[in-house]
Amino acid sequence: MRSFFLTTGLLCIPLLVEAFPGMGNTLASIAVKKRDPETPELLADLKTLPDVELTEVGKLIKDILLLENTTGHPEDFETVYKAPGPLGSDECRADTCCVWKYVAEEMENDFKGPTGRCNEFAREAIRLGFHDAGTWSKTQGGGGADGSFVLAGEIARPTNRGLEEINNKMWQYYHKFHKYGAGMADLIQMGATVGAVVCPMGPRIRSFVGRNDSCEAAPEGRLPLASQDAEPLIALFEDKTIDRGDLITLLGAHTIGQQRFEDTTRAGDPHSSTPGVWNTNFYLETPRNDTAKRIFKFHSDVSIAQYQESRDLWGLFSDPVEGLKTWNSGYAATYIRLSVLGVPHINNLIQCTGVLPLRTESYTAPDEKELNEWLNSDRAPMHSKILVIG
Ligand code: HEM
Ligand SMILES: *[C@@H]1O[C@H](CO)[C@@H](O)[C@H](O)[C@H]1NC(C)=O
Ligand SMILES: *[C@@H]1O[C@H](CO)[C@@H](O)[C@H](O)[C@H]1NC(C)=O
Ligand SMILES: *[C@@H]1O[C@H](CO)[C@@H](O)[C@H](O)[C@H]1NC(C)=O
Repeated sequence: MRSFFLTTGLLCIPLLVEAFPGMGNTLASIAVKKRDPETPELLADLKTLPDVELTEVGKLIKDILLLENTTGHPEDFETVYKAPGPLGSDECRADTCCVWKYVAEEMENDFKGPTGRCNEFAREAIRLGFHDAGTWSKTQGGGGADGSFVLAGEIARPTNRGLEEINNKMWQYYHKFHKYGAGMADLIQMGATVGAVVCPMGPRIRSFVGRNDSCEAAPEGRLPLASQDAEPLIALFEDKTIDRGDLITLLGAHTIGQQRFEDTTRAGDPHSSTPGVWNTNFYLETPRNDTAKRIFKFHSDVSIAQYQESRDLWGLFSDPVEGLKTWNSGYAATYIRLSVLGVPHINNLIQCTGVLPLRTESYTAPDEKELNEWLNSDRAPMHSKILVIG
């Protein structure tokens, strides 16, 4: 266990987290309710600040949350930030985004596998962004994108199994970059957007920094379980202002994944036929009955895919021509919402999207034949070359 850590003014005392606390107790209490799909909800200060008091970033995020198409798209494919000086130099310290350029470069290096796919660190980073921010509740408060996942040791909770490697990496980034101004909450969210764009064909999601850190552990029972059905899951996410369509949109991130702990006898099995590649195969394959043997489908994903009201959007994302573009843009907008949950002053955030690597528009697998053989085989899933598919 680590000892004392200073984070933006807070003394983090290592917490002893109970080994297997009760889960899901708040889930049942949240009633399934309908939300007006015409009015996506605003968050925090953006709900009350008059437009004249909004910063450029405040305006941009407000438009993205309301799905308005005036100041910009939730993705930015072009902006490239050039660091004004080396890490630690006065020039670099004078510009908020500068340290983030160095953070993003290091993450890109760590997240790219030898075959050009995004690797296990990228997959875990994307999931970590969700597990830090997604503990927030509209009705009950607490949690949110505040770095507490790492700072307060939430890794010890059963719902967070599979995130050990990225949890350790985040401590390394923190030790290296915190003295130059990078906080844990922002490191986690930057990890999730670098992770997505490092995956071939992934979205280049606008990325913001300036969140405050917290060492207080988030309330338990706020994250979904793969054993749950569509309706309680939809209710759980609605309590985070993430509606059914948003949930379907975020779930597509499973397309890159390879589970290890949901079923340990099948550790390494992927959720689509193309793990480590950001495409819409997850949407195509999850509802079907004739997919490759090794594809591991979560009960939750199948339940949501089969839910009557989900079918139109699920089908739209499955479209082989327009699906990816539609999904990426939707994913970027919804991920931005997720990444600011629980942040009190969204208007004070700063945009550093330019630090992200550029997007890769196409991908050809050098090992396609081998991968397909494995996907249809009974071969031990721990086969190292496949487990760390890279
Ligand atoms: C109904 C909601 C969800 C459930 C029940 C769920 C459950 C799970 C489970 C059980 C795993 C496997 C962990 C392991 O055994 O290693 C997983 C992996 C993953 N989840 Fe989710 N998840 C949900 C929503 C999301 C959302 C909203 C995102 C966000 C962006 C996300 C991103 C990921 C990613 C990227 C992985 C792959 C991790 C890896 O391969 O190491 N999930 N999820
Ligand atoms: C957003 O605006 C651009 C440029 O004005 C336009 O081409 C595009 O169709 C708009 N998209 C939506 C979803 O309204
Ligand atoms: C496949 O078939 C079984 C048995 O008919 C069914 O229960 C299941 O829901 C189907 N779909 C998927 C995605 O497994
Ligand atoms: C962080 O906390 C300070 C002090 O409470 C506050 O002024 C600032 O707006 C907060 N930042 C964000 C992004 O909420």
